[in-house]
Amino acid sequence: MGESPQPRGRGARVAAIVPAAGRGERLGGGTPKALRSLGGRPMLVRSVEALRRSELVTQIVVAAPPTLVEVVAQLLGRDVRVIAGGAERVDSVRRALSAIDEDISVVLVHDAARPLTPPALVDAVAAAVIAGHPAVIPVLAVADTIKEVGPDGRVIRTPPRDGLRAVQTPQGFRRDVLAAAYALRDVPVTDDAGLVEALGVPVTTVPGAHEAFKVTQPADLILAEALLARAATAADGRGETEVCGTTDARRPG
Ligand code: CTP
Ligand code: MG
Repeated sequence: MGESPQPRGRGARVAAIVPAAGRGERLGGGTPKALRSLGGRPMLVRSVEALRRSELVTQIVVAAPPTLVEVVAQLLGRDVRVIAGGAERVDSVRRALSAIDEDISVVLVHDAARPLTPPALVDAVAAAVIAGHPAVIPVLAVADTIKEVGPDGRVIRTPPRDGLRAVQTPQGFRRDVLAAAYALRDVPVTDDAGLVEALGVPVTTVPGAHEAFKVTQPADLILAEALLARAATAADGRGETEVCGTTDARRPG
């Protein structure tokens, strides 16, 4: 680590990587999830729009389904670099990471499947990395009690809920930290910060946003549609507006 430009202070260049190459098997419906329509626009277009509206993001790289690279490039326009994703999410992120500009010092990784993410959350994560935190993730308290369950279906233990958090994206990293994390192989993780934790680098949390939920199951799509419809009514002809109420996403915690 250490060859990459360092992020601190003004002038840090921030890239956002968007893994969008998944098939969306849990959502179903045939079309790759990122291209599923949500309120008349593909989910990926909405996710990219939140990154464009960020004040800190300067480059956007999307990992698309390999057969749809041209289609996605047309859809998103010339300011977005589109590359072919891989078989697993880690493969898609690794490929996108190798496609960002050399002078980028901060990298955000943001799921295409979180189309209602507020731009303020994107900026809160990026700002925390620019301020000196090597890895930053948005988190929410969990509503359900979470149990660890064995393969036989029996409960092993119940971790105290107070200490548990649900993790969202965008997750933000110093470029050299994320590159070192993605050089690791065969670490079983379900988010980018998990790889960084495997390196022993501290990961900082910022408050997440309820609107940044991931569209995974059919019911999530219905919720997203309903939130957009409500926002459109509230905007009352003033154009698009924020989908939900407040985003308490300012301070690292
Ligand atoms: N993703 C990706 N490349 C893959 C798999 C996933 O870029 N090989 C992306 C998805 O497009 C999505 C994000 O990673 O934006 C989060 O993944 P998930 O919600 O699991 O989406 P899918 O893998 O598409 O859905 P499923 O697991 O239900 O098939
Ligand atoms: Mg998946």
